[in-house]
Amino acid sequence: MGLSDSARAALDATARAMLAARYVTALAGAGMSAESGIPTFRGPGGLWTKYGAPDNRGYQQFLEDPRGWWERRLNGNQMPEMREALDRAQPNPGHHALVELEDAGVLRHTVTQNVDNLHRAAGSRSISEIHGNHTLIRCVACVSRFEREEIPLDELPPMCSRCGGLLKTDTVMFGEPIPPDVLRACQTEAARSDCVLILGTSAIVYPAAALPDVARRLNDATLIEINPNETALTDACSIVVRAPTGEALPELVAAIRRLRGDTRSMAGVPDAT
Ligand code: OAD
Repeated sequence: MGLSDSARAALDATARAMLAARYVTALAGAGMSAESGIPTFRGPGGLWTKYGAPDNRGYQQFLEDPRGWWERRLNGNQMPEMREALDRAQPNPGHHALVELEDAGVLRHTVTQNVDNLHRAAGSRSISEIHGNHTLIRCVACVSRFEREEIPLDELPPMCSRCGGLLKTDTVMFGEPIPPDVLRACQTEAARSDCVLILGTSAIVYPAAALPDVARRLNDATLIEINPNETALTDACSIVVRAPTGEALPELVAAIRRLRGDTRSMAGVPDAT
């Protein structure tokens, strides 16, 4: 598609803001994975747009009948469109660019609402999965997380080997509170941030959508949106890049490299005075 001139200019401004900041974090949403073939939830082609949002009592229903939930799960009750996309998906250039920014010491942490495991698959290390990770299983009592293969599913529902609590998928269900460990980590990261990239999220699901505002209130943080469309946080952002993250983030890496290169050569220029 190619980036517009205004998107390129906004990316240059983004690179400058990030290099001037003390602690940059990112808040990512489903749009980050759109170019990996995973459907978003809202907007054209979104899963909730097509099929309606799931029952808000999802977690309550799980607690009322965990065995029935697990039986349905093992019989493949997940939305086939989502399951197949999750099975096939690979990280896209946007995910890889975030890893480069982290490796370069420019991006300190990513809070993602995505459960697709693609940030980790790309190599991101400093990451909080606020809505969980679909490849993991979590204890509702002690919050221990396990790889799927570690959990025998011959007796349902599976129980935690550490505390005896009930096990569920790590993916946060509708009506389920955010696990306290990950919520605390997200709030700590927001409180440290003086620059937040808001990437491919409609920013209407809380508490995730409130994190940039925590950074703004505490640290007067610069908020920067990268998204082809307007969102609930657009007006709060001082820089807006209207482009897909898979195209914009690699360009952002290039812009930061250019600026850092400039800085290095400037430092080597002898003082004229
Ligand atoms: P949404 O589906 O609400 O929003 C997706 C956003 O991605 C929209 O703002 C699109 O404009 C944008 N978008 C689409 N393609 C893009 C691209 N190539 N590059 C960048 N942006 C693009 O997804 P989220 O905001 O992530 O919760 O939704 C938040 C939560 O709602 C999800 O985590 C999920 C859902 O209910 C749970 O599963 C618990």
